[in-house]
Amino acid sequence: MIKLIGLRKLLTVRRFLALLLLSPVSLAQDATFVDNVLTLPKATVGEAAYSLELGLSVNQGNYDFGVLAAAEIPFTGTEGASVFDGAVLRVPTVDVGGTNYSLDLALISGDPIIFRLSGYAEVAAPTPTALAQATTLFDESIETQIVQSKCVVCHKAGLIANGSGLLFVNTSEGSAAANLGAFANYLNGSAAARTRILSMVTGVGHTGGKQMDAGDKLHQNLGEMLRLLLEHQAGI
Ligand code: HEC
Repeated sequence: MIKLIGLRKLLTVRRFLALLLLSPVSLAQDATFVDNVLTLPKATVGEAAYSLELGLSVNQGNYDFGVLAAAEIPFTGTEGASVFDGAVLRVPTVDVGGTNYSLDLALISGDPIIFRLSGYAEVAAPTPTALAQATTLFDESIETQIVQSKCVVCHKAGLIANGSGLLFVNTSEGSAAANLGAFANYLNGSAAARTRILSMVTGVGHTGGKQMDAGDKLHQNLGEMLRLLLEHQAGI
């Protein structure tokens, strides 16, 4: 408890200085470690929250961190925060040279405040969601290359494929999102609908004829994008 009070006192004292020193960048959510400075945009102690800058020094093989700057910030919960439980400050993730680590920093001195690295583990980078992957693939390889060049000429409201249930819009600011949505609506969770699209574009039973060869790059991209959309719709 004494340690906790010490930390609070110190944080209050340093607060004004810190407000001047902290750059807007340090208010971003993720912790960073740059030039031996560990920046924690949100560190909570009970129901108080601070942004902290801790400086690393190596003492006899120990990794010690002293407080360089601190500022109290509004407490909005502990999500994504580094949490100090009175003994250990747990940093959920910090990018160190391109790899994410979680850190445990044990408080070894209350005056001055010094934390010592007591544990760390590599944190796997979060994989983008299926929808995010589908969107990227669509934007990069499908909207222009397939929809605008090969489909929209017929598959648009009022044109020959009006009744097909697959209607796109011409290139505009929101067209990629709208056209991805058109595929998503047509699929509606059905693997058979995916198969139907993939066979129709190769000319099988399609009034619009052959738009690509089965298995070529365009066809593969379309198939992969539809697979990802289905995965998203299945809630995987
Ligand atoms: C030359 C005009 C034309 C082009 C180009 C065209 N289509 Fe079509 N497509 C049609 C018409 C007309 C229909 C509705 C009649 C039919 O099913 O063949 C249709 C039907 C479809 C259907 C079946 C819809 C259903 O009824 O369930 C799919 C899927 C489809 N098209 C996909 C595409 C895709 C994807 C492209 C672009 C790669 C494309 N088409 C290009 C004219 C076209």
